[in-house]
Amino acid sequence: MRSRFITIVTIALCYTATQAQLFKSKDKEVKPIIPENAYQIVPQPASLTPLKGKFHLLENGKIVFDGRIKDYKFAPPYLLSVLNPATGYKYTFDKMQQGDSPGKNDISFVYDKTITNREAYNLEVKDDRVIVKCSGGAGAFYAIQTLLQLMDDSIYYQKKILGKIWTIPCVTIQDAPRFGYRGMHLDCARHLFPVSFVKKYIDMMAMHKMNTFHWHLTDDQGWRIEIKKYPKLTTVGAFRKGTFQYTSHDLPPVFDKTPYGGFYTQADIKAIVKYAQERYVTIIPEIEMPGHALAALASYPEYACKDTVIEVGTNWGVYDEAFCPTEKTFTFLQDILNEVTLLFPGKYVHIGGDEVLKSRWKESTACQDLMKREKLKDENELQSYFIKRIEKYLVTKQKQIIGWDEILDGGLSPNATVMSWRGEEGGVAAAKQNHDAIMTPGNFCYFDHYQSLSPSEPFAGCCYVPVSQVYSYDPIPKGLNETEAAHILGAQGNVWTEYMNNSNYVEYMIMPRQCALAEALWTPKEKMNYADFSSRMVRHFNRFNILKINYAKHMMDVSAKINSTAGKVSVELSSVIPDAKIYYTSDGSAVTPGSTTYTEAVTISKSGVFKAANFKDGSKIGNDYVQQFNMHKAAGVDIKLTNQPSSTYNPGGAYFLLNGVEGSSNYGDGQWLGFSGVNFDAVIDLGSDVDVSGIKINYIVKNDSWIYAPVKITYSVSTDGVNYKEVYNGVPDASNGLKNAAAKFATEKARYIKVLAENTMIIAGGNAGAGNPAWLFVDEVVVE
Ligand code: ACM
Repeated sequence: MRSRFITIVTIALCYTATQAQLFKSKDKEVKPIIPENAYQIVPQPASLTPLKGKFHLLENGKIVFDGRIKDYKFAPPYLLSVLNPATGYKYTFDKMQQGDSPGKNDISFVYDKTITNREAYNLEVKDDRVIVKCSGGAGAFYAIQTLLQLMDDSIYYQKKILGKIWTIPCVTIQDAPRFGYRGMHLDCARHLFPVSFVKKYIDMMAMHKMNTFHWHLTDDQGWRIEIKKYPKLTTVGAFRKGTFQYTSHDLPPVFDKTPYGGFYTQADIKAIVKYAQERYVTIIPEIEMPGHALAALASYPEYACKDTVIEVGTNWGVYDEAFCPTEKTFTFLQDILNEVTLLFPGKYVHIGGDEVLKSRWKESTACQDLMKREKLKDENELQSYFIKRIEKYLVTKQKQIIGWDEILDGGLSPNATVMSWRGEEGGVAAAKQNHDAIMTPGNFCYFDHYQSLSPSEPFAGCCYVPVSQVYSYDPIPKGLNETEAAHILGAQGNVWTEYMNNSNYVEYMIMPRQCALAEALWTPKEKMNYADFSSRMVRHFNRFNILKINYAKHMMDVSAKINSTAGKVSVELSSVIPDAKIYYTSDGSAVTPGSTTYTEAVTISKSGVFKAANFKDGSKIGNDYVQQFNMHKAAGVDIKLTNQPSSTYNPGGAYFLLNGVEGSSNYGDGQWLGFSGVNFDAVIDLGSDVDVSGIKINYIVKNDSWIYAPVKITYSVSTDGVNYKEVYNGVPDASNGLKNAAAKFATEKARYIKVLAENTMIIAGGNAGAGNPAWLFVDEVVVE
């Protein structure tokens, strides 16, 4: 992944170590518990009315299409390719003659000009016929996805299922997407995935009515698209001599000397583009510039600013090299784009634009001369000049550009669409400038982040984005008026693959989060309901079992919310499994049906390991919830902060500092509060005078990710909140790692405790992120 801080040198994956963990959950394969409700569709249709009765499929049935449906031609073969193998029936396709009505026993697709959205459809399943109304092939295709999900799950087998009577429950559905852009991204530069998997990826999108595949084809660690005019891009740029492998947040990486690489030929790409078209998925190719270009520059160093030896990247993070904005570089990039635009028929080309370190441009006489000539006041404006030139060229090819939100810096190109990844601010700024935007904020849409905090999760760069958080995402930020909001085209799940080195791993990371995002983008906002989604997902997982999709099963686990308020810490548990019972223990012992039954939030009164699990018919379902609590005198009490933390790392707020849970060495585990360029300055109110003899705070140091130790820490106590006595000050350990500053002192009476941890403020030259505000990450404030 790439994330705002990142040169992330201390993270990642040792595949062999984590692979076992990744698939371990298979041993406890959950038996499908399929609710009776036959209308279990993901994403939830806009309107669905169940009716009595069933339509029976026939051995020699017919699918009939009205030729006026625009671009319908891919829909009938798709339906036949799923229906016939599993049923063993011989459905055929017929064209409806003008003036014909939908025939008895047929599955008919009728043109309806009143349905103006080409992705929308109305579906009527009656006991003697099925009628779909739509105006476009995409609408017909989405009706097909709905029809398949209305049928027995075994329709997804590609072999004949014996002894089934194939039916569809009667229903009327009116359906249309909330957003026009429903995207998934896949980074094939950091790791390469076979053509067959890229096709499966597109299938998984199509099943959930997603329509745009953002294909990240070039980056520092590999160039993956054949360009005939520049063969070295793939003979040199597609291969790296090894890879840094990361296993934990605490251990340094190990260099794996195995050469790694490969690329997609133009024939592969044409086959994938065709496959996507047949599923109404548009592909947006991403050709990264001017940064993230190491692989290209290793192949053709003459397009770099500095005359130096350049190798394809073997580590993650951001490198200094960038394309040098000279005329010969523009010619080179235009030649590449000529071939790219011929391969991809969609209207957009993504040109990257993110994380460009400007150091090489600052040192380069060519760049400085160009800036003078063009009256560009700084390197941001030079980047803007670069992107504008590329946009101008792509316009001559009838293409529009998309770029990551850094393309706002120095001025947006005239027709650029902004992909907002560093939060939503970029998308908001674009919309306010009358530009389109696509939302991909890290804390909702980065599927390379952890989806569970269980220690057995495969390594991820950082952070925590559980499926419920993805589901809660509303791409329209507050504060936009109607015209501005109309510029938010939709959202996209991003899948950076630094640590995902095979397809199973990718599937595990995207599912079921992709389903949650698909529903957030398709279903009307007022119909979004996580409990209902969860119950549909229990059924949907059975479809995944048949389709051999390797999904994560955390939704089956007990979920827990830790509350820390009114002087008390408590744990609230819930489960999505229908009729499951939750049991728990507070002493670290194993959870069994003989443990305490959960009925209401459990107050945590002493330190220890809390465990909980779901049981159904006496058997455990899913994994245990396990949480160590370290209770102390300030657990659950009130805390006030002078400066607010970033909502990216902890949307929950300050009470996480006093919830009895100490953050792990993953600064994005949801426990840590991150302060960018400001001090951590807190006052704790214990409610009454208490004997206090020790104070400790935890902090993280990770300089590569721009996270620094406090330069100074001060603790003070007070009985009246006005007059404070300092009990400790010191300069804490600034070396990288998970640290704490613990002070012991002679007992003091105190109601108020002031904690000040002073931020480094600005990162010094020569370090990653030099010149930017430093981050300070603090978790539990422990009072003894
Ligand atoms: C990004 O994650 N650097 C777009």
